[in-house]
Amino acid sequence: MLDIVILAAGKGTRMRSNKPKVLHPIAGKPFVSHVIDRSREINADNINVVVGFGAEQVYEELDGQGLNFVEQIEQLGTGHAVQQALPFIREEAAVLILYGDVPLIESDTLRQLLSVVSETSMGLLTVTLANPLGYGRIVRNRIGSIEAIVEQKDASKEQLEINEINTGVMALKGKHLIKWLPQLSNNNAQGEYYLTDIIEMAVADGIEVRAAHPHHEAEVMGVNNRKQQAELERIYQARIAEKMMADGVSIIDPRRFDLRGSLTTGHDCLIDINCVFEGVVILGNNVTIGPNCVIRDSVIASNTIIKANSIIEGSKVSDGCVVGPFARLRPGTELLENVNVGNFVETKNSTIGKNTKANHLSYIGDSKVGEGVNFGAGCITCNYDGAEKHQTNIGDDVFIGSNSALVAPITIATGATIGAGSVITKGVEQGQLAINRARQENHDNWDRPRKK
Ligand code: UD1
Ligand code: CA
Repeated sequence: MLDIVILAAGKGTRMRSNKPKVLHPIAGKPFVSHVIDRSREINADNINVVVGFGAEQVYEELDGQGLNFVEQIEQLGTGHAVQQALPFIREEAAVLILYGDVPLIESDTLRQLLSVVSETSMGLLTVTLANPLGYGRIVRNRIGSIEAIVEQKDASKEQLEINEINTGVMALKGKHLIKWLPQLSNNNAQGEYYLTDIIEMAVADGIEVRAAHPHHEAEVMGVNNRKQQAELERIYQARIAEKMMADGVSIIDPRRFDLRGSLTTGHDCLIDINCVFEGVVILGNNVTIGPNCVIRDSVIASNTIIKANSIIEGSKVSDGCVVGPFARLRPGTELLENVNVGNFVETKNSTIGKNTKANHLSYIGDSKVGEGVNFGAGCITCNYDGAEKHQTNIGDDVFIGSNSALVAPITIATGATIGAGSVITKGVEQGQLAINRARQENHDNWDRPRKK
């Protein structure tokens, strides 16, 4: 039985934002959602989020996730914040207190902290910092047992020398919290109800306070401003990039890699610099992604090359395709095997058959294209009449001369040829040549107009 309380009521003044701090993202996901995800990983069945500033925005963003929201109308301190959640805390549960603005905490660390919670002990996550300025200090007695936490502003000169600090994360039995929280007072330098005062109550009740420590310092770093947000973003991305490289993916520069979602890879994939992956992206084996690509919610099969500066969204790319440079595959695109889509080609809601090539400056929308088709440079499917979208069907082995416009709805049958520069408004039958452009006139000895 595990109850979680996530403190998320603060405004985050230093973010200088209209949005509550905990809704700002790391890797495209709100800080607080990272904390919620970790809570689920350790099987919390009762997650309470204490909200205050911008509560409405927080509800809206986190709606439908089975969370219990508790409102702290005035922010009177961390102890007061946890008090608001007290009606939802179960005596027999272990209670874990987390901060919504400390996003990189790891579930392993939380498990370790929870493992020291018993009827006669509680857990406190502490870390030793070279510069402990601003944090609550961990006061230990002569034999090294934790006796109290003293806030920076309440600390004596000797206590300020202590380098072991309170990360704020703690775990204890519900019944202990239920007993101690109502006894907090705000008789201190900040006039706040300090959650940290329960440590002395624990000691007085003979409950041992046992420390656990994070694996990395970044796990317990809070975000107070946009600079720290950017720093944690890089740490988070570096962690993912490292894991992917360990799994056999080549990342040319892990400092210039960004994943905002999930990325699954086969063997021997290569990711060049400055790529952004969003949503759910799946790469097969031997996929190469050139520099500056953005890939969102797409599947890219084996032996495919995505060249520089391509944008791919909601698309499926089959084996052996070559896409880009500067290609844009929009949602509903499916490229079958060995398709080439080149520079300044945009596709949308279209299936493109095997071995088809559209190498330069084309738009293919709402189309079904057969195998072995050749789109010349600048070919356009005119799918939109200003009101409705219409379908284009192109059979196998069709050759479309450069700078042609196919006005949908239209069907071009197998083996047909379209002359360059044509505007095709009527269907073309199997094997026909269709050409629709002004016939060329040549005039002999043309007398050019001259300036007088
Ligand atoms: C707190 C700890 C300190 C610790 C530090 C770690 C206390 C008294 N002090 O100090 O020992 O070293 O965290 O970062 O607990 N919050 C609310 N409601 C409130 C007050 C705070 O929800 O009324 C939330 C904040 O939004 C934030 C978290 O609790 O997410 C911590 O609050 P903050 O004011 O940053 O605590 P510190 O003074 O830094
Ligand atoms: Ca803080």
